[in-house]
Amino acid sequence: MIKKPIGIFDSGYGGLTILKDISASLPDYDYIYLGDNARAPYGPLDYQTVYKYTLECVKWFFAKGCPLVILACNTASAKALRTIQQNDLELIDHTKRVLGVIRPTSEVIGHLTKSGHVGIMATAGTVQSGSYPIEINKFFPDIKVTQEACPEWVDLVESGKKQSEEANEPVKKHIDSLLASDHKIDSVLLGCTHYPLLSEKILQFMPSGIRVITQGEIVAKGLKKYLQNHPEIENKIGKGGITEFYTTGEVNNFDLKASVFYEKPVNAVQIKLK
Ligand code: DGL
Repeated sequence: MIKKPIGIFDSGYGGLTILKDISASLPDYDYIYLGDNARAPYGPLDYQTVYKYTLECVKWFFAKGCPLVILACNTASAKALRTIQQNDLELIDHTKRVLGVIRPTSEVIGHLTKSGHVGIMATAGTVQSGSYPIEINKFFPDIKVTQEACPEWVDLVESGKKQSEEANEPVKKHIDSLLASDHKIDSVLLGCTHYPLLSEKILQFMPSGIRVITQGEIVAKGLKKYLQNHPEIENKIGKGGITEFYTTGEVNNFDLKASVFYEKPVNAVQIKLK
């Protein structure tokens, strides 16, 4: 059997924060990363559009032979994953698997808070979907979840302004607004894979007693467990330790920014989806 890579998808650069931790924890597998930079950000887009774009990207991974695709994007996980899992996989290829980042995060977040009050900072799309409160309360029914949409934050990352003065106001504003909604919050999840790239600014404005949670290691642990429990998928994955990068956007720009986020050189190939 020819073994194939795990697909890692995001609307842009954010999924690199997940891939970095996945490949640190599971270095022997092969990976393909795709950023749909030409159409990012997904956060403000409606359900139909996020679903359509995500499905196109998932089909691209399947055409590359990937047996498993991780939507390393909360917005795509919130708005497209369920339909893809429940309707499309059966029609395209029932042996393939697509997983997201919301469930593995929701499964553990209750163990990370002492007060039982958790804040979620995410894109407008993820917040509107209500996926986090729904999923977290399935595993931890007593936890109070408060959400804050931070619509400017993805653009601060994508446009390279994450350390600029310009970032101060939108970062502080949303932290203050979230914490004002529930004074008992002791743990805040960065529920968008782009946000860890803004960490420096976020930590500058987050009160020191509040724990800031990122998803990379959580998703990596979840994937490790999944592969242990699903040998029929694990057996199909290539183990050469090779990672390839693709973007729908402009490639030189992608390589430059992606290398900063991935903390290693990136040489991407540009693809057209249509
Ligand atoms: N990184 C994505 C997420 O985790 C979304 C960024 C975007 O709006 O495209 O939600």
